[in-house]
Amino acid sequence: MLEKIHHLGYAVEDLEAAARFYERSFGVAPGGAETVGEQGIVASMFRVGDSLIELMQPTHPDTPVGRFLARRGEGFHHVAFEVADIEVVLAELKKNGVDLVDEEPRLGAGGTRTAFVHPKGAFGVLTELVELSDRGR
Ligand code: CO
Repeated sequence: MLEKIHHLGYAVEDLEAAARFYERSFGVAPGGAETVGEQGIVASMFRVGDSLIELMQPTHPDTPVGRFLARRGEGFHHVAFEVADIEVVLAELKKNGVDLVDEEPRLGAGGTRTAFVHPKGAFGVLTELVELSDRGR
């Protein structure tokens, strides 16, 4: 059902500063900033082997990531698993009574389709499902 860890999401106050830190410290190459309106974030990703790190800055304090920063400060925010068919996985989770943030997939970065599982139902870890677009990764 879960293909691999697609990315880890980090909440940051300043996307540019965070991207520069990882670039200078670890020699990674963060991609250009992309606004994901549906999630209220500006995001930049960099690759680590087969997975990605997603740096996320909220577009406004009154967004899920903005509220997360106010409550918890910067740091680890969510894990994202790649799935082949997000509809199938969501249907299975619903059938099993898993608490979902998104009943239906929404549009994510890079034309992906994503849905979040509530951390309450996943032992405290906000969990995202990602189905890649046909354009590939
Ligand atoms: Co994500």
